[in-house]
Amino acid sequence: MTGFSTNWAVYSRYVGDIFGSALAAEGLFAFGLESAFLGVLLFGWHRVKPWVHLVSTIGVFLGSMFSAVWIVVANSWQQTPAGYHIVGEGLNARAEVTDFWAMVFNPSSVDRLVHTWQGSFLAGAFLVLSVHAYYLRKGRYVEISKKAFKIALVVAAVFSLSQLVSGHSSADGVAVNQPAKLAAMEGHFEKSAPADLYLLGWVDKEKQEVTGLKIPGGLSFLAHQDFKAPITGLNSFPEEDRPSQINAVFQFYHIMIAIGMMLIGLTLYASFLWWRSKLFETKWILWIFSFSVILPQIANQVGWYAAEMGRQPWVVYGHLRTSDAFSQEVSANQIVFSLIMFTVIYALLFVLFIYMVNKKIKHGPYEESSTVVNFQSF
Ligand code: HEM
Repeated sequence: MTGFSTNWAVYSRYVGDIFGSALAAEGLFAFGLESAFLGVLLFGWHRVKPWVHLVSTIGVFLGSMFSAVWIVVANSWQQTPAGYHIVGEGLNARAEVTDFWAMVFNPSSVDRLVHTWQGSFLAGAFLVLSVHAYYLRKGRYVEISKKAFKIALVVAAVFSLSQLVSGHSSADGVAVNQPAKLAAMEGHFEKSAPADLYLLGWVDKEKQEVTGLKIPGGLSFLAHQDFKAPITGLNSFPEEDRPSQINAVFQFYHIMIAIGMMLIGLTLYASFLWWRSKLFETKWILWIFSFSVILPQIANQVGWYAAEMGRQPWVVYGHLRTSDAFSQEVSANQIVFSLIMFTVIYALLFVLFIYMVNKKIKHGPYEESSTVVNFQSF
């Protein structure tokens, strides 16, 4: 928030009314719920009854889900603005909400919310799979690990498949609402021509060429169920209205999809082994699952990079350019300094987080000699 208002003053003024209502809703509905239950979830295991602990866990889950609703709504409004009018001019212009529900249900918010929620379910499911694959390899907590692994595998398989469906729906929306972003995601330059679908490739922006492995007309088919249907290309837009980092958008987008496909392949193959009663005897698959935790984390990051870099040069799509949105009074040196400070602080928090999580995993869910918790009966 401080970063918004200090480094992005013009932007903060412009979106203040929109963000104000969405983020106030986040504070009221989500933060309250999360913070009320988080303490019980973290410190209550031996202090409250099991059902109170379960209710707290569900409370934290719902709080995080609501939190995602409002932050994704605020972000989606910038990508596909709706339910507003502009007041004032030039650097003093700002958007004012005229229809709250049109603002909330702007053209991209539902698709993006579903995709982001599912991305977080995948991150959670693969963390559980990874930890329990590690215990199973080490022969620790075997019974509880088998049960936890099976539950997480069902969640991971279901959401890996539905992430493909929701990603396709998101791409359909991008084709309509942000055609320059879709063209950058597939490196499609021609003004209006059938577009290919690349499995992998490299974009040469100067030569306006993509070298790689492709399905000819694949993007046209996905968008219009016709391999020859024309797709609006980057050359339809004035140069100053196109994303500048086309190859980066292309790469991030394709890494996300490649990981999505890997998650589908991995979870379906593991389900097949489970069906053949060979899942826990197949050591190499447990090895892969031990390290698979990183995959949805990367997909979530690169998905955001593709979405955010693909909408450039706009910070509010079609209205406010990123280059006009920053604070005129803040110098480049001050920005670099604050970025370094943020990077250092987040890097320290990240190291601390990894250290704590690793310690918890090594310790395990309970003392192995303990007879207090009988997980066989679960
Ligand atoms: C399986 C194939 C997938 C397809 C076709 C797909 C498609 C897309 C598209 C088109 C966007 C841009 C949406 C926009 O700019 O409005 C996007 C963004 C994103 N993707 Fe994916 N995706 C896939 C897999 C995944 C996976 C596996 C994850 C994470 C585990 C993921 C996480 C994200 C995130 C966090 C964003 C940014 C939020 C958003 O804009 O919706 N995606 N994806």
